[in-house]
Amino acid sequence: MSTHTEASPPSPKQQVAIKAAEIVDNGMIVGLGTGSTANLFIDELARRQHEQQLEIQVVASSVISRVKAQQAGLQVISIEHLSHLDMYVDGADEVTTDMQLLKGRGQDLVCEKLLASHATAFYVLVDDSKMVSRIGEKNAIPIEVMPSAAQLVLNRLAKLQAKGSLRLNAAGDNVAYSAAGNLILDMQFTDLETAQINALLTVMPGVVEHGIFADIVKAVFIGSSDGVKLLQ
Ligand code: 5RP
Repeated sequence: MSTHTEASPPSPKQQVAIKAAEIVDNGMIVGLGTGSTANLFIDELARRQHEQQLEIQVVASSVISRVKAQQAGLQVISIEHLSHLDMYVDGADEVTTDMQLLKGRGQDLVCEKLLASHATAFYVLVDDSKMVSRIGEKNAIPIEVMPSAAQLVLNRLAKLQAKGSLRLNAAGDNVAYSAAGNLILDMQFTDLETAQINALLTVMPGVVEHGIFADIVKAVFIGSSDGVKLLQ
């Protein structure tokens, strides 16, 4: 079950997954993010549960994480049965030193932000390639919209000097649908600060969710070839 061996030292992403699994206590309910780093955390959590006979329950932000957790032997509960969530652990696409995040390269934004914002503690796992000086520096900002509202939201965003387009599926022959059945706009903003973009998108009619996760992170584990640093 272990994701690392003596022969191959753990990668930066594995190192942060190991550190995060170490802070899970017996009896906790743990939210699982989505992506390659979240997958490593699921492996480490399952290993720790097995080795230390922990009684933990998990809730997944995506079908892929739920299936992986079940296969790893974790006890999965569904979101609708949650009365509280002790911690949520996920990766990110961009992180600033003041712990603002960009997420949503996958298509599971709605559940990811739901779990991240309801958890008592939200921990983020990244390697140092994800650190940026401002959100949107390397990636467009994903904005999940009601399918019928896509054009109206695009028009509104164009008035804010944002540029971008509807996300396409992997084959490039159709629009991509999110797990919640919505469309995704990938947008670049040139004139606005992250806090302004966050505030505008959070209340814009037709927008279901967006990829800026502001002011909800408890700590970021940053892996690099020098080891793990903690930002909090
Ligand atoms: C999915 C996400 C992922 O957490 C993010 O894309 C990071 O992925 P990875 O751990 O594979 O680098 O936000 O919506």
